[in-house]
Amino acid sequence: MRARITGAGHYVPTRVVTNDDLAKLFPTSDEWIQQRTGIKERRFIEHSGIGASDLAMPAAKSALEQAGLGPKDVDAIIFATLSPDVYFPGSACILQHKLGCRQIAALDVRNQCSGFLYSLQIADAWIRAGVHKNVLIVGAEVHSTGIELNERGRDVAVLFGDGAGAVVVQPTDGERGVRTVEVAADGVGYKELWVEAPASMCDPRIDHKMLDEGRHFPKMNGKQVFRWAVEKMPEIALSVLGKVGKTPADVDLFVPHQANMRINQMVAGKLGIPEDRVVHNIERYGNTTAATIPIGLSESWKDGKIKEGSTVLMAAFGAGFTWGAAVVEF
Ligand code: UT7
Repeated sequence: MRARITGAGHYVPTRVVTNDDLAKLFPTSDEWIQQRTGIKERRFIEHSGIGASDLAMPAAKSALEQAGLGPKDVDAIIFATLSPDVYFPGSACILQHKLGCRQIAALDVRNQCSGFLYSLQIADAWIRAGVHKNVLIVGAEVHSTGIELNERGRDVAVLFGDGAGAVVVQPTDGERGVRTVEVAADGVGYKELWVEAPASMCDPRIDHKMLDEGRHFPKMNGKQVFRWAVEKMPEIALSVLGKVGKTPADVDLFVPHQANMRINQMVAGKLGIPEDRVVHNIERYGNTTAATIPIGLSESWKDGKIKEGSTVLMAAFGAGFTWGAAVVEF
C-alpha cells in the first residue's frame, strides 16, 4: 500500500500588492526587492475578517474536485500554517466545519515553511498504516495582517504574501505515488526567524510595551537563514533521491519552497537541475510559507508541467529551523 496525490488546488486573494505599492509605505524599492528576492508582487487579503481557513476553502474544494471526492469523503484534514485563523483552536477544525465534512480527524501542523512536507509525511504514514484513507492536506497563510509595514519591519515585510494550496492523498496499490518524505529540525535556530509574542512564557502574554516594540511581528536574521537553507535543502534533496535509487537527472520537476529566488537558483545549481525543470512563482506571490509547495504543485499540474509519470522533487527550509524533501511519482 502506498499513498498517491490525486488532486491539487490553490487560491490566492484578488488584491495584488506590487513592490511599488510597498515603496509608498516605507523606504524600499522595486529594484532592491527584485534583486535580493525575485519578488515582483504578492497577494494580500481584500479586507479584515478573512482567515487562513477562508483561503483554504477554494483550494481544498478544487483539490477534492480533481480527486473526484466531496467533503463527506474526507477522512482526515491536516492544516499546515503559521498564521492560523485564531490562536486556538486549530484551523483544521475550522476548515472541517466550513467544508461540511463528517466528524473526522483534524490536525494543525505548525512547521512553517516545511509544514507541507511534514504534513505529507504524516498523511503518507497514516495511509500506509491503514489509519486513514482520504487525507486532505492544506497549506494556507494570511501573512498580511501580521507583518510590520514600516521601516522597522521592512526586511521581513517585503517577503511574505497570502495564499493557500491543497492536495488530496489517497491509497493506491500501484507503483507510483509518494516514494519517500524526509523531514528534520534543529531548534538551535529558533530565534533566527520567529514571532516572540504573544507567548505563554510571558505574563501577560502580550502588553502595551511589547506592542510598541513590535515584538508581535516576525523577526529574521536573513543571512543566517539563507546560509542554512542553501546547505540543508540540497543535502536533504539528495538524501530522498538516494533513498529511492534516483539522482537529480531523474527529476522531471523540482518544486522548491519559495522563500527567495536566489536560494532556489543556488539549490537547483548545487543539485544540477536545469532552470526549465524548476518551479518559480515567488515573483507573483512572494513567500506564502506552508502554501508555496502545494500552490506550485497545483499550478504545475494545471499547466501540464506535471503529467502522468512525472517524477517530482520537493524541498523546503524555514523557521525552527525545520527542513524537508520528498520524491513523488505522479
Ligand atoms: O521562508 C522562510 C525562510 N526565509 C528565508 O529563507 C529568507 C532568507 N534570507 C533572505 O532571503 C535574504 O537574507 C533577504 C532577502 C531577507 C535579505 O537579503 P540580504 O542580501 O541578506 O540583505 P541584508 O539583510 O544584508 O540587508 C542589506 C541592506 C541593509 O542595509 P545596510 O545595513 O547594508 O545599510 C538593510 O537595512 O538592505 C537594507 N534593507 C532594505 N533596503 C530596502 C533591508 N530590507 C530592505 C528593504 N528595502 N525592504
